Amino acid sequence: SAEELFERTRAAKRTLGDRVMVLGHNYQRDEVIQHADFRGDSLILAQVAEQRSDRPYVVFCGVHFMAETADVLSRSNQTVILPDMAAGCSMADMAAIEQVEQCWEALGRVVPVEEAVMPAVYVNSAAILKAFCGEHGGLTCTSSNARKVIEWSWARREKILFFPDEHLGRNTANKMGIPREQMIVWDPYMPRGGNSVEAIQRAKLILWKGHCSVHQMFQPSHIDYFRKQHPEVKVIVHPECHEDVVNKADLVGSTEYIIRTITAAPAGTTWAVGTELNLVNRLKHEQTDKKVFFLSSTVCQCATMYRIDAPHLCWALENLADGHVVNRIVVPDDEKQLAKVALDRMMALS
Ligand code: 13P
Ligand code: SF4
Repeated sequence: SAEELFERTRAAKRTLGDRVMVLGHNYQRDEVIQHADFRGDSLILAQVAEQRSDRPYVVFCGVHFMAETADVLSRSNQTVILPDMAAGCSMADMAAIEQVEQCWEALGRVVPVEEAVMPAVYVNSAAILKAFCGEHGGLTCTSSNARKVIEWSWARREKILFFPDEHLGRNTANKMGIPREQMIVWDPYMPRGGNSVEAIQRAKLILWKGHCSVHQMFQPSHIDYFRKQHPEVKVIVHPECHEDVVNKADLVGSTEYIIRTITAAPAGTTWAVGTELNLVNRLKHEQTDKKVFFLSSTVCQCATMYRIDAPHLCWALENLADGHVVNRIVVPDDEKQLAKVALDRMMALS
């Protein structure tokens, strides 16, 4: 039963004491996040992983790229465990290293890439892509520091190759007032990304054609509906949503920004929230003095985040308490060093 699993998980954690730290991303289920020692967005969890190196074991309740980031940033060779190895990210899978290398070569036939193009990768990506950025003078970003990363990049090179989420890149550039003519989309399945030589020469921001399958489900019509039904509503969305949604929303930001904003809002206010369902349902139940609605009429749930459930967490912790490490995430050493260069450049800005 759920109570039994809760008690077993708690007992395993108690046995492990200060040797283990459970990290939980804001999208995790209630049954999992209740066991987290720290919860937050991607940036906060990366910072905790880096700073709390005193705990030898990290059980990461989130997705694969987040656990890899924790492994890269851990200073004392911590062991990072992902309770279900199938917890990936469909967006991260939209950019493979071979495709990024092909893109870099193709750009290199048009401009001197090493001086002219800054590679900037969203943390929602495999460690090897972060290593690519580390090697070519670039860096990583999260949804909470994308603007700083873009500013940093343009201060150093004329163009940015931003991957794998085209929406985070475009939405951030829109907020900075960058004209559309300066942005192009790179389709990895097309020669030269589907662009002419002139378009590449002109571009300041090259956006990889990739997206989040969860956030793409929010539509501008959902916002219209809420504005009509609840004229007082404030709409708050994640920057992985399409620009047509972001441009109609009142506020945009990371999962942590969304939680903080609604938590701090006055009683009686009404909110429509465009991000993953678990997070929104939790806000709805916790912020009872406010009206919190889910922005879409369809279910927008991150199926891979959802894979981490109470039985998987319990299994990972009980094994650990018995001295068995299961589902360890290890980034190979050469990749790790270069990925750390890219992550460190971002951390210095955050
Ligand atoms: P945050 O960094 O805002 O938590 O976002 C991570 C994520 O995967 C959003 O889909
Ligand atoms: Fe990846 Fe989207 Fe899930 Fe975030 S919500 S982990 S971007 S699939």
